[in-house]
Amino acid sequence: MKKLYIETLGCAMNVRDSEHIIAELTQKEGYTLTDELKEADLILINTCSVREKPVHKLFSEIGYFNKVKKPEAKIGVCGCTASHLGEEIIKKAPYVSFVLGARNVSKITQVIHKDKAVEVDIDYDESTYAFSDFRSSPYKAFINISIGCDKKCTFCIVPSTRGEEISIPPELIIQEVEKAVRSGAKEIFLLGQNVNNYGRRFSDHDRKIDFTDLLKMVSEVEGVERIRFTSPHPLHMDDKFLHEFATNPKICKSMHMPLQSGSTAVLRRMKRGYTKEWFLDRAMKLREMVPDVHISTDIIVGFPGESDKDFEDTIDVVQKVRFEQIFSFKYSPRPLTPAKDYEDQVPDAVASARLSRLQELHLSMLDEISAKEKGKIYTVYFEELKPGGYVAGRTDNNWIVKVRGSEELLGRFVDVKITKPGRLGLEGEVLA
Ligand code: SAH
Ligand code: F3S
Repeated sequence: MKKLYIETLGCAMNVRDSEHIIAELTQKEGYTLTDELKEADLILINTCSVREKPVHKLFSEIGYFNKVKKPEAKIGVCGCTASHLGEEIIKKAPYVSFVLGARNVSKITQVIHKDKAVEVDIDYDESTYAFSDFRSSPYKAFINISIGCDKKCTFCIVPSTRGEEISIPPELIIQEVEKAVRSGAKEIFLLGQNVNNYGRRFSDHDRKIDFTDLLKMVSEVEGVERIRFTSPHPLHMDDKFLHEFATNPKICKSMHMPLQSGSTAVLRRMKRGYTKEWFLDRAMKLREMVPDVHISTDIIVGFPGESDKDFEDTIDVVQKVRFEQIFSFKYSPRPLTPAKDYEDQVPDAVASARLSRLQELHLSMLDEISAKEKGKIYTVYFEELKPGGYVAGRTDNNWIVKVRGSEELLGRFVDVKITKPGRLGLEGEVLA
């Protein structure tokens, strides 16, 4: 038996791509998975290139792989860094056997048999590739609904690594949802870089369908209990979408709204397509329509030209929306993006100070937000055993909740009373 070791970095799209790679290699090439680097015959790293740091770490990491691996074992670099660096990776690290870009995942069974193969074609159409049967969780299924991204936000490398946006035909998505449900998954997680732009372009012919229509179709599949999706774009949060989100009981009441910046001037330079007012209008409308909604966001501080006043606009939005979760980052200049050449790059010390202020503000808000959860009763879908005799799951509105318990809770929807709030999650007791 040949053994495969795979490490996955970055976003949910990468997690799904790794599942696809694992399925191809186990079903067609006779591999089994291992957690032991030293035992592996094939070592893969599925990379992320959204920020600079992980890219730097890549070379030290594969250097380490090379040191400890079996002499005949192969190393392959996959994902977004593979797409943007291409053969440079093999030049810099000649022990790497192949490089497989984020849009070429389905070629995995070809590249493992070639020496020094570099497959990084971002025009390659993977929108109808066979969905894989491997799932890292039996309880929820990640399902791609589109590949690539057409948005070209000026800070973002993704359009250059994952290529043009193509929607996957709805009938293939529904087939995949049915398959997932048959295998026991009750939660469907729809994936794309820009999910609510769904239907923009199909590779075969024109169809008239948007993300809201797709959500309705998925919710009608028997056995689907919960639907989540990531990432939607604030620009495409029209009334039709918000109404479906609010009224369809299968759609989980947790929305990711990547703000990036609260300043309209910065948003314009980022080419995000919306203003501070539009974002606030959508977020407030959402809070009004769905009182229990959980809103998460991504924020970049220190984008070129961001003034103190611009940053205050970001703080203002954070104070008004009171996000339940914030993923915040210092701007990182990326190759192949317009913003890296913008004048007025913000000094690192200024960006760091802004990041700390934002994160401290959010932590204090989070204490208040989570304190209000004490005593509430939620239905939790349990998915994971935790150390110390705990089982963890999520509420519809995405709180992570742990309770004392064992395997028998896994895969079940159970009512839980919250006893202990916390920044990273809640603790509760199962109601009899
Ligand atoms: N399509 C996804 C974005 C993928 S990148 C979405 O709209 O949510 C994930 C997040 O990384 C982005 O939302 C952004 O906040 C952050 N990011 C992207 N490029 C970055 C850069 N150059 N520097 C810092 N953060 C960045
Ligand atoms: Fe990146 Fe903007 Fe698309 S953040 S993935 S270019 S929506």
